[in-house]
Amino acid sequence: MRRALTAVLGAGALLLAMLVTVALPASAAPGTLKEAAAATGRVFGAAAAQAHMGESAYVSTLDREFNQLTPENEMKWDTTEPSRNSFNFGPADQLVSHAQAQGMKIRGHTLVWHQQLPGWAGGISSRDDLLSAMRNHIAKEAGHFAGKVAYWDVVNEAFQDGGSGARRDSVFQRVIGDGYIEEAFRAARAADPTAKLCYNDYNIDGQNAKSNAVYTMVKDFKARGVPIDCVGLQAHLTLGNVPADMQANMQRFAALGVDVHITELDIRMSTPADASKLATQANDYKKVVSACLAVSRCTVITVWGITDKYSWIPDVFPGEGAALLFDNNYAKKPAYDASLQALGGQDPGDPGDPGDPGTVTCTYTRTAQWNTGFNGQVTITAGATAIGSWTVVMTMGSGQQITTLWNGNATTTGNVVTVRPVAWNGNLAPGASASFGFSVNASNGNLADPAISCGSP
Ligand code: G3I
Repeated sequence: MRRALTAVLGAGALLLAMLVTVALPASAAPGTLKEAAAATGRVFGAAAAQAHMGESAYVSTLDREFNQLTPENEMKWDTTEPSRNSFNFGPADQLVSHAQAQGMKIRGHTLVWHQQLPGWAGGISSRDDLLSAMRNHIAKEAGHFAGKVAYWDVVNEAFQDGGSGARRDSVFQRVIGDGYIEEAFRAARAADPTAKLCYNDYNIDGQNAKSNAVYTMVKDFKARGVPIDCVGLQAHLTLGNVPADMQANMQRFAALGVDVHITELDIRMSTPADASKLATQANDYKKVVSACLAVSRCTVITVWGITDKYSWIPDVFPGEGAALLFDNNYAKKPAYDASLQALGGQDPGDPGDPGDPGTVTCTYTRTAQWNTGFNGQVTITAGATAIGSWTVVMTMGSGQQITTLWNGNATTTGNVVTVRPVAWNGNLAPGASASFGFSVNASNGNLADPAISCGSP
């Protein structure tokens, strides 16, 4: 077993870390994302595109790792109803058949959205006409897939970005008015009484004006009996910026009586990727997965694509990408290992996998403390295989700064500090250890221990 990425929180956790390592032999833990998620009562999905289903590595990765499939574009209005009342479910049907044959759940995406909307629908200017077209679209599409789709993103991205908390100025909002969203949910329930009906949006992952507006809408829907079952947090995130209050945000939606789904997760970086960015990304994925696991009504985690080879990001954000769990060659990235381990899984390991962090465990000890700071020490221990290098990623608490660090080389991005060996302590024989130490200044008195993860290289 070459793989271990151990996160250790808090001083005095050495014994706990040893117990966890001993108590969970890797061979006993689930070895894929879908198995590990299933063991927690959740599904782990991916968006997939019919255009790539002829590529064997694409399909084998999808089938091996994921138990929920979201058609990336094939269920959108411009594909399914390109001219009025003339329907084309062919590409989506193919993906649905594949998913069913593999025992995957299907997420329908999406019934009402201002993008990928055919010109004929976008051009309707009469309220009754657009309402009737929207109801017909939902009746036919959700009706066609009834019994096959587990979750529908009924309405997508209906709120403006930024601080206004206002509705987006779409044709639906302009022509039908505020009521269009609940009309869409009622039509979806009528067409498919068994699918869970979700509202889905981006930049509502943490608590902010936009998520507050969605929260107010969901609360109102629940109070008035408008059929809504779930909220989708898309989670198109940027490196090092997982909202600190993501778990609290999910919890407040759950408290309204709806499930919470992470529907389009990806964490983009400036390209090309390097080891430091990939380590930060791994830590970010771990935070998202852990936040979901902490909320019992967070039942779905779906990534927006399978491989960095195919992603919407470089088209929309030139110079950015590498946001997913598998690289361009379908090799597992550190973010894969971090996600799997956060779910309680353990990769059985495959030689040559560049995402393999090697067999490394790390422990953290607080060695001194005072009113406005503390000293810490991290010890990295090789497993059964010798290693030539190691990486430790520490996420510091608010107001904390590392003033000195010894026996390691640190680079800092925001509150994330990545530490690598100095010249003499990177090579570790099997079972051998190296340590580095550091001093933290926290003038605000925040003496919380950093979150720490480690790997090799
Ligand atoms: O299929 C045509 C192809 O025939 C043509 O040659 C090519 C030329 O550009 O375009 C192809 O269509 C593209 C389509 O993806 C399929 O690849 C569109 O141009 C392109 O705009 C479209 O992008 C999709 C985007 O939604 C549209 O807004 C992305 O694949 C898809 O990942 C993205 O997904 C959205 C979610 O639905 C909602 N949340 C945000 C997320 C990311 O933007």
